[in-house]
Amino acid sequence: MILVTGGCGFIGSAFVLGWLNTSREPVVNLDLLTYAGHPGNLAAVAANEGYTFIRGDIGDSALVEQILTRHRPRAIINFAAESHVDRSISAPLAFAQTNVLGTLKLLETVHAWWRKLSPADASEFRFVHVSTDEVYGSLDPHDAGFTEQHRFQPNSPYSASKAASDHFVRAWHHTFGLPTLTTNCSNNYGPRQFPEKLIPLMIHNALRGKPLPVYGDGRQVRDWLHVDDHCAALNAVLERGRPGESYNIGGRSERTNLAVVDSICNALDALRPRKGGGSYIELLSHVKDRPGHDRRYAIDDSKIASELGWQPTVKFEQGIRATVQWYLDHEDWVESVTSGSYRQWVELHYKSAVPVA
Ligand code: NAD
Ligand code: DAU
Repeated sequence: MILVTGGCGFIGSAFVLGWLNTSREPVVNLDLLTYAGHPGNLAAVAANEGYTFIRGDIGDSALVEQILTRHRPRAIINFAAESHVDRSISAPLAFAQTNVLGTLKLLETVHAWWRKLSPADASEFRFVHVSTDEVYGSLDPHDAGFTEQHRFQPNSPYSASKAASDHFVRAWHHTFGLPTLTTNCSNNYGPRQFPEKLIPLMIHNALRGKPLPVYGDGRQVRDWLHVDDHCAALNAVLERGRPGESYNIGGRSERTNLAVVDSICNALDALRPRKGGGSYIELLSHVKDRPGHDRRYAIDDSKIASELGWQPTVKFEQGIRATVQWYLDHEDWVESVTSGSYRQWVELHYKSAVPVA
């Protein structure tokens, strides 16, 4: 069986759903259920006998040890993290706690257990650490995409914490021989993404007739990767990746934020025309920029493409339309996750987001 951490979040839940849809191999999901974790994301498999949910912290060594001893996973896929850049700017300590210390404690506990496995089991074991392209810092408009050799230059408290975790994962391979692999991927999008991130936030606000807050000039560039393509890449890394290596994963879909908001509004105009006429794009509002905002990310995916035969399959225009449709069809999900604490965050974070010319 495999152990997934953070499986109640956006990407982890897509991974678990995809796994149980295509494999009979059981999954244990260890998730702390922070504001970003929603067990309802996995309601479709909750009664599946191959699925076990355990609420807990990756940094709780006693609990993790118990899980390892009882379930004997052949692999761990570590999704658990604090993941939102804006929150890392207003409250960085939680990012050090989970992303740095949590990952370190998880590595220590896994290593202590793994040392006692038989040589055959130990060499088959895999620890896949899910990380981000943000560890590489920001690119200029004409720079080539990030390769795995690009130097680490994290600019936000979030990316600094993920970079630290990547270094620990690498060290546990180099020093102790733990078969670790790290993936660094670009911006994911798709169903069940918490509406604090750009795409679901814009859909959420548009449907409520609220301003669409674009930071600064909106010409920052991100590479958009459909979450299902990401999960396929993680499966390839798990099954065929080389321990000790890292793999960059991208969607081959670079877009400015303005272009992304435009695509969302076009999809909404077609699928749910605005009451009273006009386009949703009229709600766009430029607001104060994010401090230290990275200008551009781009991925060179030639390593994973040539070594593991993976490439993205979802075209952005098709993926964004399907994503908008998913949010239109799941307003109950949106209602259930946008609780009091969500509203408090939005109020606090966008309070100073007065429109700028
Ligand atoms: P998310 O915020 O939606 O979900 C994170 C999950 O981790 C939640 O279910 C939360 O409850 C859980 N969690 C948090 N702290 C925990 C702890 N201490 N112990 C156990 N569980 C804990 O995040 P996501 O967008 O699904 O991202 C998953 C991973 O992928 C993260 O490591 C993130 O850094 C990385 N990543 C995300 C993106 C993206 O675009 N979303 C891109 C690149 C990398
Ligand atoms: O690159 C991978 C990273 O992508 C992941 O590691 C992070 O976990 C994930 O959150 C994401 O980080 P970003 O900061 O790129 O994503 P976010 O959705 O927060 O913002 C995308 C872009 O949109 C970014 O340039 C900031 C901008 N933005 C975001 C919000 C929430 C706005 O202009 N307005 C907004 O209200």
